[in-house]
Amino acid sequence: MAKYIIEGGHKLNGRVKISGNKNSILPCLAASLLTEEEVVLTNVPNITDVEVMVEILMDLGAQIGREGDSLKVSCKNINKYVLSSDKVGKLRASVLLVGPLLARFGKADFSHPGGDVIGKRAIDLHLSGFEKLGYKVESHDLEYKARKRWGGDKDVRIFLELPTVTGTENLILAAVLKPGVTTLRNYAQEPHVGDLCKLLNQMGADIEGFGGSELTIKGVKVLNGTEFRISPDNMEFGTYAIAAAITRGEVILENCRDLDWEPIVWPLEKMGLIFEKKDDTFKVKSDRLQAISTLTTGWWPSFPTDLMSVVVVLATQSKGVSLLRDWVYESRMFFVDRLISMGASITIADPHRVLVSGPTSLYGRTQETPDIRAGMALVLASLVAEGKSTINKAELIERGYENVIEKLSSLGANINRAD
Ligand code: EPU
Repeated sequence: MAKYIIEGGHKLNGRVKISGNKNSILPCLAASLLTEEEVVLTNVPNITDVEVMVEILMDLGAQIGREGDSLKVSCKNINKYVLSSDKVGKLRASVLLVGPLLARFGKADFSHPGGDVIGKRAIDLHLSGFEKLGYKVESHDLEYKARKRWGGDKDVRIFLELPTVTGTENLILAAVLKPGVTTLRNYAQEPHVGDLCKLLNQMGADIEGFGGSELTIKGVKVLNGTEFRISPDNMEFGTYAIAAAITRGEVILENCRDLDWEPIVWPLEKMGLIFEKKDDTFKVKSDRLQAISTLTTGWWPSFPTDLMSVVVVLATQSKGVSLLRDWVYESRMFFVDRLISMGASITIADPHRVLVSGPTSLYGRTQETPDIRAGMALVLASLVAEGKSTINKAELIERGYENVIEKLSSLGANINRAD
């Protein structure tokens, strides 16, 4: 078990490079299964979720090499359609391999994917989508077998009951090589879904309408290799911006080319953060931090759920009462008991809503993180807390954030890692 030990009270100042987007590289790796040619992905973050995805792909027969921040992926010799449950249980995004396996073999065996425990994290919409695309899916005790039915409708319309992110990606991946036109309505429009569509089109797919009300995927016969740059991680961008603001520092966030920042920046500006955009960088500092009357998360371009945990910390340092609502997950907010133990004034209204009064002084404590985003929220809280904090199970943070210790230390934080 890894732990982070943080001595609070240091302003963050300097420059930090925003890494490639975790939730973009994972579907893009899955897409490389759809061609026998080499796919080169650049701006790839060095995080454990990528390591696990690479291990699963190699277990299926892929050859993958890393050079700096690039991954060269060759899926010529893929020879398995079974996803082994030990690794799939560690990573929610492993479910994204099912769509490409179906496209390639017409069948896939897989277990219910694991990942952060922040809610029930169903996959029923992936499964019903596969059924519409012409597969029969049998499930028994969280184990699934999907098999191609004879036929299957040529043109398919799928209305998603909710715009599930990995569900949208999985159906796109399953549909790109399927004859006929697949149309998705109420699909997810997160920047990482956009990255996946761009990569697939570069590989020769025919996907149109991203950002509009319907996404159409015209099946093509074959996909080719390509080189593709992963866009910056908007969750890391928001996290470091808030870290700069609550420590009263001034930080320049670099490597922000193609970042879709508007849905993230508006509530942070309302709360007193000041952003100055210049070319591919953003300078961030804060004025008087103030509460936001209500902030509600949702699917893009709503404010993203993955930034809610760090916004709770921002609200503890802001004047007034903030009502923060996350409808996406049932358990996202449960980590706030850790912040309360550090001195925060937070009332849990129900599983989806908290009321945060600020500003409050925070005090260092020893705690365990339940998930990636709560872990980073505890890091931020510890940066402003009086005294020493220890965050146990810090390896969870490293699933999604690259080089946390190096990046924060270079900005002036007193943070160390121990095993
Ligand atoms: N849902 C269903 N049925 C489905 C699919 C989803 O009911 O078939 C529900 C889930 O139970 C959950 C909600 O819809 O309550 C959100 O699920 P969604 O499928 O949109 O999320 P996801 O695809 O599992 C991705 C990110 C998450 C991020 C969400 C929302 C990846 C690998 N993961 O998850 O990222 O929170 O979208 O934006 O892309 C993280 O990075 O820390 C993280 C958890």
